[in-house]
Amino acid sequence: MNYENLLIADANGIRTITINRPDQLNALNRATIGELHSALSGADKDRSVRVVVLTGSGTKAFVAGADIKEFAHFSTEEGKQLSAEGHKQLFDHVEQLGKPVIAAVNGFALGGGLELAMSCHIRVASDNARMGLPETGLGVIPGYGGTQRLARLVGKGKAMEMIFTAGMIKVDEALQWGLVNHVVPQDQLLAKCNELATVIMKNSPTALAAAIRAVNAGFEPGTNGMQQEIEEFGKCFGTADFKEGTTAFMEKRKANFGGAQ
Ligand code: COA
Repeated sequence: MNYENLLIADANGIRTITINRPDQLNALNRATIGELHSALSGADKDRSVRVVVLTGSGTKAFVAGADIKEFAHFSTEEGKQLSAEGHKQLFDHVEQLGKPVIAAVNGFALGGGLELAMSCHIRVASDNARMGLPETGLGVIPGYGGTQRLARLVGKGKAMEMIFTAGMIKVDEALQWGLVNHVVPQDQLLAKCNELATVIMKNSPTALAAAIRAVNAGFEPGTNGMQQEIEEFGKCFGTADFKEGTTAFMEKRKANFGGAQ
């Protein structure tokens, strides 16, 4: 499938989705959000895809935020709808995808860009990346999950500070705070993501999907994460991957969970 605002590339079980609006610093307009929904659903359904890497085109920005030009004239109701639709179509969708999603943060990750990176399961940043939630400087608040996911990742106090100051942090601070998992030189960013993806995809896809559901459940208000873990753990025993994984261990060989290895 061809997209106007995305580039898609497949290699060895890794699908790299690149947001491709470099002249607008990959800002997320509605069309791009819709395309990302479709591309992520496609990756989820495609059995040959084991890990998704999400990045931005160019060397300057991952995503510089929601497209300010598109929403500047919105009413209260339109603003609410923009946020609700974004959560459903993209940000919750990424977080709940059935396979691991790695954000390759290749530059500015601001506002909706940081919110998108935070919706991914793992974040790897290049050394030039800058992260922030500048929304209060525009008279709004983060509306794509930022008030919740930032506090979960770095704690309430640091989240409040980032949101109140609307400033940007550099990668050393982001790494120290646990906002990103790894920092590498920019020319090694995709290689590092691919290396991580290659390690991950040696493991059972059904177990990885169950792990995503269980970990997420612990962060959903009203959901009992431990109970979800018990359910997911039990369900694993009924899968072909569990049979293969445990049999391989007893036969002293590497497990083969199919697909690209
Ligand atoms: N929405 C819409 N357009 C955006 C954008 C956004 N979030 N971020 C950048 N752009 C556009 C700029 O308007 C400009 O387009 P133009 O050439 O048609 O005017 C282009 O991308 C390049 O950006 P520019 O501001 O010229 O680059 P810079 O190097 O001077 O500054 C930033 C880079 C990231 C500091 C600056 O673009 C910025 O502050 N962007 C907005 C960040 C933000 O507030 N995001 C949260 C949105 S809720």
